[in-house]
Amino acid sequence: MVEVYYHDNKDTLEDFTQAHNSGESVSLEKLAEIGVFYKCVTNMNDLNELAKQRNYKNRDVVNLNLEAFNNDLEAYNAKMQQFYKEHYHEDEEIRYIVDGEGYFDVRDKQDRWIRAKLSPNDLLILPAGIYHRFTLTDELKQVTAVRLFKDEPKWEAINRDTGRESDARKAYTESIAV
Ligand code: LAC
Ligand code: NI
Repeated sequence: MVEVYYHDNKDTLEDFTQAHNSGESVSLEKLAEIGVFYKCVTNMNDLNELAKQRNYKNRDVVNLNLEAFNNDLEAYNAKMQQFYKEHYHEDEEIRYIVDGEGYFDVRDKQDRWIRAKLSPNDLLILPAGIYHRFTLTDELKQVTAVRLFKDEPKWEAINRDTGRESDARKAYTESIAV
C-alpha cells in the first residue's frame, strides 16, 4: 500500500535511496490537487480497463536493479542518477508496480517534494508537465513496473536545470493554479 509524505530534503548523492521521511504525511486528496492520482490495482483486467478508459495504447515492462545492468555498477549508478534528476515529460504517464518498490517524488504547489513509496499493486497517474524524479528503495533496490503511454512512448525527460518550457508544462502550471 502506498505511503505518501513530505521529503525531508536532506538527501545526498550517496543516500537518496533512503526513506527521507520528514514525518509529515500527505493525503491522496492532496496528491489529486496537483493532478497526481493513486489507485490500488490488484489484477491485469483492472489495469487493462483503466488503460482503455483513459485511451492508453502502449505499454512496456521495465525491470530496474543492478542485475538488469549485468552487475555493471557504473551503468546502474548512471541510470539511477538520471532517474533522480528532476524532470518532466510532455505526456501523461501511468506507472504500475508489479514487484519490488520505488519512490516517486513530485513537486507540490509550493514546490516542496512529496514522496510516494510504491509497492506491488500501486498505480500512479502522473500528469504531463509535472516535475518529478524516481528512485529505488534502499531496502530492496529493485522494481518491476509497467509503464503505460497514451501514444508512442515519449522518452524525453526535460530536466529542470535546462529551464525549458513547453505547452505541456504551461498547461500543467495553469491546471493547478488556484
Ligand atoms: C519516470 C521516471 C523514471 O518517468 O522519471 O518513469
Ligand atoms: Ni520521468
